[in-house]
Amino acid sequence: MENQGENSSSCRRLRVVMFPLPFQGHINPMLQLANILYSKGFLITIIHTNFNSRYTSKYPHFTFRPVLDNDSKNNNLSMLSSKGIDDPLSYNLMMINYCIDSFTHCLTKLLENEPVACMISDSVWHFTQSVADSLKLSRIVLRASSMSCIPVYATLPFVSEKGYVKTAIKNEVVVVPMTKKDIDKVYKGGPEDAKLDLISSTIKETKAASGIIVNTFKELEETAFLAIAHDFRMPIFAIGPFHKYFQASSSSLLEQDRSFMSWLDLQPVNSVVYVSFGSIAQMGQAEFSEMAWGLANSKQRFLWVVRPGLVSGSERVESLPDGFGEEVGERGRIVKWAPQQEVLAHKATGAFWTHSGWNSTLESICEGVPMICSPCSFDQPINARCVTDVWKIGVMLDDEMDRDEIGNVIKKLIIDKEGDEMRQRSKALQEKVNISLENGGSANQSLKDLVEYILSF
Ligand code: UDX
Repeated sequence: MENQGENSSSCRRLRVVMFPLPFQGHINPMLQLANILYSKGFLITIIHTNFNSRYTSKYPHFTFRPVLDNDSKNNNLSMLSSKGIDDPLSYNLMMINYCIDSFTHCLTKLLENEPVACMISDSVWHFTQSVADSLKLSRIVLRASSMSCIPVYATLPFVSEKGYVKTAIKNEVVVVPMTKKDIDKVYKGGPEDAKLDLISSTIKETKAASGIIVNTFKELEETAFLAIAHDFRMPIFAIGPFHKYFQASSSSLLEQDRSFMSWLDLQPVNSVVYVSFGSIAQMGQAEFSEMAWGLANSKQRFLWVVRPGLVSGSERVESLPDGFGEEVGERGRIVKWAPQQEVLAHKATGAFWTHSGWNSTLESICEGVPMICSPCSFDQPINARCVTDVWKIGVMLDDEMDRDEIGNVIKKLIIDKEGDEMRQRSKALQEKVNISLENGGSANQSLKDLVEYILSF
């Protein structure tokens, strides 16, 4: 285990209970955080839903407790198939519905058996706050997304009305210069009311928590921290990108394919565009074909993750347009699932075409790779706007997929001076991350504060 902490002896035997939301982009940061806290000496119990819990055997040093996440008579969650999640919002709502009783029972039993310092649960599991309150247990929230999402989410009804985010909460601070189109994307996928309800409950119960842990570092999102200071008065721990302490590969739900690595090793420096839309995003066949031809027509090298379910109702490469393989030849590779952090760290990787999930965004920043942002929904339009308009380390490609436009944008990042300037700015952020993690840096100090805070319960 890496980084055995200096105050580990004082924490050993003190247990922390953690409850991840069972989606890849949420499992990764929670499991990384669990490893960080374990390395500081805490004992870890993970409560997990049956759905998406394949990673448990890879963590023999943790205790796992399952909770029911579906109704055995009416197994709606079985609509999750190898072809992907059609409607993540409904999934969330259904899981919340089904697991409340089982979760409460599980946590009650745990507390009867031994002392627990606190619970850390995903911010989207908002119902866990009232369960924790009823059991007199402190709850710390894990925000699996950016800090900048909080002020935007907290003002969403206002934002929707105005159509443009100018101020955040009560401070006159421009946090993220969102457009009306960005806001519409936040709501995309599922009924708008249900989404707003979920977001409002998440924000409300985050405000009621004893603390917030964010997978970020202060220097990256300073304005967001300023903007929420008035309304979120609990301690906030920005302990830095979690994967810089522990990589995510062991919590991967899909097997990582490494067979292309020898091909990547042969490509020139900064010449390859890495393309991945995370674990949930879906698109139609027409959009997918346009993407394929955009990549082909760019004449640039690429590595493209086409996971099962990326195209709704389809299984990977058979969806590729006729003639694509012949056109691309040795210039491109397609994989089902990649060791993403390793790919981003590779010297050949020159740009990342992403859906702007927070883990992907942060992983890209940590390797100084500029981005092409095609956000789909949820927090992604917010992260994307930060990348393009705040940090200026990427370009937006969020209109209808068009092969010519795709080709132009790829060339801009890989060949043009503009792309190189973005790469330089991204490298400067990468440097800031590293400084924040060093002794005396903000993330390093925040982690020390978090350990002390948990010990104080
Ligand atoms: C979801 C949401 O969509 C995202 O917006 C939110 O911020 C977190 O939860 P997801 O869509 O899967 O996550 O995207 P992202 O946050 O980028 O997480 C994907 C993770 O899968 C990353 O850690 C990435 O390294 C990993 N990954 C992705 C792989 O290991 N291999 C791959 O081929 C692709």
